[in-house]
Amino acid sequence: MLIYVDEQKKQFHLTNGMVSYIFHVMRNGQLGSLYYGKALHPNTQFSYIHQYDYPTTYSSHLEGDRAFSLETIRQEYPVYGTTDYREPALSIIQPDGSHISNFTYKSHFITAGKPALQGLPATYTEDERDAETIQIVLEDTILQAKLILSYTIFKDLPVITRSSYIFNNGQNPFYLERFMSTSVDLPDKDFSMVQLSGAWSREFYVKERNLEVGIQSISSIRGSSSHQHNPFLALKRKSTTELQGEVYSFNFIYSSNFIAQAEVDQFDSTRVMIGIHPFRFSWKLSKNEHFQAPEVVMVYSDTGLNGMSQTYHDLYRNHLIRGMWKNTDRPVLLNSWEATYFNFDERKLIEIAKEAKKLGIELFVLDDGWFGKRNDATSSLGDWFENRDKLPHGIKYLAQKINELGLKFGLWFEPEMVSPKSELYKLHPDWTVKTPNRSTSLGRNQLVLDFSRQEIVNELYQRMSSIIRETNLSYIKWDMNRNITEAYSMCLQADKQDEFFHRYILGVYDLYEQLISEFPHILFESCAGGGGRFDPGLLFYAPQAWASDDTDPVERLKIQYGASLPYPIYSIGSHVSSVPNHQTKRSTPLSFRANVAYFGTFGYELNPITLTNEEKTIIKEQIIFYKNHRNLIRTGDFYRLKDPYTGNESAWMVVSKDKNEALVGWYKILATPNPRKIQTLKITGLDPKGKYTINHLDNTYYGDELMYNGIPLPPEFNGPNKKIAKRAGDFQSEVFYLVKR
Ligand code: DGJ
Repeated sequence: MLIYVDEQKKQFHLTNGMVSYIFHVMRNGQLGSLYYGKALHPNTQFSYIHQYDYPTTYSSHLEGDRAFSLETIRQEYPVYGTTDYREPALSIIQPDGSHISNFTYKSHFITAGKPALQGLPATYTEDERDAETIQIVLEDTILQAKLILSYTIFKDLPVITRSSYIFNNGQNPFYLERFMSTSVDLPDKDFSMVQLSGAWSREFYVKERNLEVGIQSISSIRGSSSHQHNPFLALKRKSTTELQGEVYSFNFIYSSNFIAQAEVDQFDSTRVMIGIHPFRFSWKLSKNEHFQAPEVVMVYSDTGLNGMSQTYHDLYRNHLIRGMWKNTDRPVLLNSWEATYFNFDERKLIEIAKEAKKLGIELFVLDDGWFGKRNDATSSLGDWFENRDKLPHGIKYLAQKINELGLKFGLWFEPEMVSPKSELYKLHPDWTVKTPNRSTSLGRNQLVLDFSRQEIVNELYQRMSSIIRETNLSYIKWDMNRNITEAYSMCLQADKQDEFFHRYILGVYDLYEQLISEFPHILFESCAGGGGRFDPGLLFYAPQAWASDDTDPVERLKIQYGASLPYPIYSIGSHVSSVPNHQTKRSTPLSFRANVAYFGTFGYELNPITLTNEEKTIIKEQIIFYKNHRNLIRTGDFYRLKDPYTGNESAWMVVSKDKNEALVGWYKILATPNPRKIQTLKITGLDPKGKYTINHLDNTYYGDELMYNGIPLPPEFNGPNKKIAKRAGDFQSEVFYLVKR
């Protein structure tokens, strides 16, 4: 049992021995929050935590109840306008223009497992014993609307997921103008807020700031979750580190406009809220219509940021990522983008593929430029048929040739876009997102198709599925290279225009779902100019995501480090590319590049024909190494050891669940003149009493030695030691493989 209900007091306690989440019905009938944090004993009574209080002068109290002001009370789902001046989770515009609502408790029901959210990505259970869900039904009798708040607690993880649903059972339509997925009131503000922010080519930078009075938020109004802010927010205690301390974290399973905010009020309490961004959102609900808000995953950790991440990784590996790729090692791929850009033909591709095969590559991915008349980024998006100038025998022939070499074949698509220079645009100029009588902005020379329209989604399905069938496709990279401007749909009535963004992303999810249902074997990799839409919403459909267009390994340390906060490393697309790096012009050793890329879905993004024999030999060894360890990388516990933002060194590791093996990556960016003689790397997660051997070190070591004294790092060059030095110069790295004997 995971959910304990005190029927009399109407108190609900979700606990699994790791986390407790407790709330109750307050005397005004609304839901009040009692406790969220480390697990408490399930049978205790907690109502005393809630104290009705006489508000001070200049505060308001509820009509007829002098000792009840919502302003000072921790609530589960605050609504707008009645004594609480903090931002609400819900605001509804009613036919008379008013905004006040009052949702009070009516009933609740508990189910084993977790019901699906129709049309939306969400965590799930395959075995219903893995979780329990409670749904609280609240009603506003004047509005005649039902609000259902859903809470799921997972059995083996400190995870609570939340979502909200509203139904209009009255006669008159009303408009949601703000409908958050979750709102959590915490009693203090002694946290720092961690966010993953950046830009194109430098996504997922970990940023931290102390909470202060006022609202601190991250958001997107771009029509995608965005490069700028990932829909993830964590509040950690100031003393919390990677390995110890408390963290409350929130990850939104959604791929479009969002807001995640922490509001610290005048009493230093903190309200965390996540949901669809209310700016340019409203939803009309007529009689018998409903709206389902997306889900938020809330992870509580008292074992630091690593504990938090491991919980997300386990949850997403077992209860978010679906299909055959959920539990399958990822193929080593070669992507043609940085190898050729748009400049290729059939002969060149086959040569590249032959060379790739010799190196041990398993999947050949043909990126942008294979369709329509596309020779640069100015044309042909939407024309998903082969470019006959480049592929004179057709895409089917190329795919067969690739398959005959013993390679799987993958293709790049950008389904949501159309180029003004394209056959599709000539045929359907009215299919794009644009506002009438206004100019329409271009992004990367392209326009956005109105995915809020079913007929457009269906047409894209037809076009893509016919290529998939023709090519026996194994993999699709689904890209999205611009954000939405002049947002408007020609097919929505004026009072429904603010439904556009949500309807658009539902169209994206729908196309994914249609393709996955018909082609369950295809491995999808999501991409939006790199990590512009790397979120848990898309992980539900595409089990891996291209984390960044930046393939420079020094940058990748930061990007992959940040991405690993919520996302399992086997979902983080990471490739070895050529030097000087195309994004930074930095040159790093081939070993350094691979040593970073191993900790993700490994691949290459370079032209193998231009490699020297020595490089080919090294790459063959790298691929063998990855294949030997990819199962561990996919299934193990990931630990961040040294962060790449504050120092010259960075490190991370994966340990198998049984602690029998581990892979440790260590990186040093700049060489140190006259370095310290004895250098070690302290690791973690091992069996302290287990005896481990380490590749290229002779000794065996007990786990406790490696954790508390550290792995001895090979000697670093200091001048006189040049004969024995194993490391010298900038961009040093080591990958250690540990096995318990
Ligand atoms: C942006 C992606 O992130 C790149 O990897 C590549 O696929 C290009 N688009 C192709 O246009």
